[in-house]
Amino acid sequence: MEISVRKGSLVEEKVDLLVIGVREGEGEKALKGHLQTVAKEDHFKGKLGEAMVVRGDQSVKAKRVLLLGLGKKEDLTSESVREAAACMMNEAERLGVKTVVAALFDQKLSAKTVAKSMVEGARLAAYKFDAYKKKKNKPSVQAFTIVAPDARSVAQAMAGVTVGELGVEGTLLARDLVNQPAAHTHPAELVNIAQGIVKASKGKIKMKVMDKAACEKAGMGAFLGIAQGSDHPPYFVHMRYEPRGAKKRVALVGKAITFDSGGLSIKPAEYMYTMKLDMAGAAAVLGVFKVLTRLNLNIAVDGIFAACENMPSGKAIRPGDVVTAMNGTTIEVLHTDAEGRVTLADALSYAVKLKPDAMIDLATLTGACMVALGEEIVGSMSNNPKLENKVLMAAAEAGEKMWSLPLEKNYKRELKSEVADLKNLAGRYGGALTAGLFLQEFVEGLPWVHLDIAGPAFAEKPMNAYTSRGATGVGVRTLIEFLKAF
Ligand code: BES
Ligand code: ZN
Ligand code: ZN
Repeated sequence: MEISVRKGSLVEEKVDLLVIGVREGEGEKALKGHLQTVAKEDHFKGKLGEAMVVRGDQSVKAKRVLLLGLGKKEDLTSESVREAAACMMNEAERLGVKTVVAALFDQKLSAKTVAKSMVEGARLAAYKFDAYKKKKNKPSVQAFTIVAPDARSVAQAMAGVTVGELGVEGTLLARDLVNQPAAHTHPAELVNIAQGIVKASKGKIKMKVMDKAACEKAGMGAFLGIAQGSDHPPYFVHMRYEPRGAKKRVALVGKAITFDSGGLSIKPAEYMYTMKLDMAGAAAVLGVFKVLTRLNLNIAVDGIFAACENMPSGKAIRPGDVVTAMNGTTIEVLHTDAEGRVTLADALSYAVKLKPDAMIDLATLTGACMVALGEEIVGSMSNNPKLENKVLMAAAEAGEKMWSLPLEKNYKRELKSEVADLKNLAGRYGGALTAGLFLQEFVEGLPWVHLDIAGPAFAEKPMNAYTSRGATGVGVRTLIEFLKAF
C-alpha cells in the first residue's frame, strides 16, 4: 500500500472508496444531500469505530463512500484517529477495494499528528502474520491518499506520514520477531537480524557480538547460568549508533529469552503456550534500530540484549545454584523461571559501563505485572521521576498505555539471600516491584526506567482496531517518541 498526500477537495477524486469522517452527532453538518439522508435514515451516529458503506452518486466520483465515525469532538486524540484509520482499513479490505481517499480526520490536532496517526492506524491494522499459512493474505488496498486543505498542511501531513511509516516499520519488525516460533528465532537468529540492520545502515550502526567464550571472559556468569541448559548457544549483542556531534547517550536494553520453558522450575503447559514472546523486549530494541538512522536524531543510542533460551536439561542451572554477575554481585537462583532478571543483571551491568545519560530496559518480566495492570498496560518503574515522566509522555503520544509502579525500598528485604548477595525469588506479593528492585541493584544509580511489558507484548485477544491477536510490537513507537524528545 502506497500512502501519499495531496492538496484539494475530496469529491473530485476518482477512487474505489471515498472516506468521509464524521464526528459523533455532526452528520447533519458534515454531510450533504443524498449522504445526509441515508446517514439519517440508517441511524449513522458517527461513533468512533462506526462505519457505513454507501454507493456513490453523481455528487461524488467515487464508486463507494465510507461514512466513518470519528467519535465525539471532545474525545478526539491521536489515539482515536488511529482507531478510526484502522476501522477504515479493515472496512476497505473487507470490501476488497484498491484505492482509498480520505481527508485529514481532524483540523484541531496538527496536520502532522493527524497524518502520522492515520498512517499508524491504517498500516498496523493491515498487518497479518501468515508465514506458516498455505493461504497467504493478499492485501487489496494498493493506494491510500490523504487529502489536506492547503499547501502548508500538505507539507505538515507529509512529514507526519514519514515519521508514521518509520514507527510502523519498526513495530512490524518487532511483531514478526515475536510471532515467529522460538524454533526459528533462536539467539543466533536475533544476531542475524541485528547484522542485517547494521549492514543496511551503511556504517552508521556498529555492532559487537559476544559468543559464550567472550561472555565468560567478560564475567557474565548470570546470563550464562540461565543459558547453560539450552542446545542453542547464547549471544550477547551490543549495537551502537553515534551520530557526529551527539551530546547525549541513551542505552536501550531488551530482555531476550528466545523461549522461556521455565527451566528446571518448569512452567505448567498452559503457561508455556505463548513463551516465544519472551524476547519481545529485544524485538522492540531491534525495531527501533531498524529505523534509527532515519530519525535524524542528534543523540547516541546503544542497543543491548543478552539472548538465550531457558531450557531444562542435564546441563541446566539448578534451583539453589549461585551465579556471579559482571559487576561482581552474586545471585542465588532459587527459581529458574525467574530467569529474565538474572540475564538482565549482566545486560544492565554492561550498559552501565557505557555511561549513558539514560537507560531504559524493556522486559516481559513478570506475570505479577499482568495481575496488577492487566493485559494492556505496561508497568513502569524508575529511580528517576523526571526521566520516567518523559517515557510516560512518549507512551501517551504513541498510544501505548503505561502506568508507574513504585520501587518501594522496604521490599528489598524480599531479595535477601542466605548464601549470596541476592536471590532471584521474592515472596508472593508485589512480584512486579520486587523484580524491578532486583534490576535496580545493577544500574549503579544511573537514571533508569524499567518497563515490564509482560502483558501488552502479546495480545491473546484483539487489543484494539489496529492490534489483532498476536505480537503487538509494544515499545517501539514509545521509544521513538522518547528519543525524538530527549
Ligand atoms: N517470562 C515470564 C513472565 C511472563 C509471564 C511474561 C506471562 C509474559 C506472560 C518470566 O520469566 C516468569 O516466568 N516470571 C515468573 C517469575 C516468578 C517465578 C517469580 C512469573 O511471573 O510467574
Ligand atoms: Zn520465566
Ligand atoms: Zn521469562
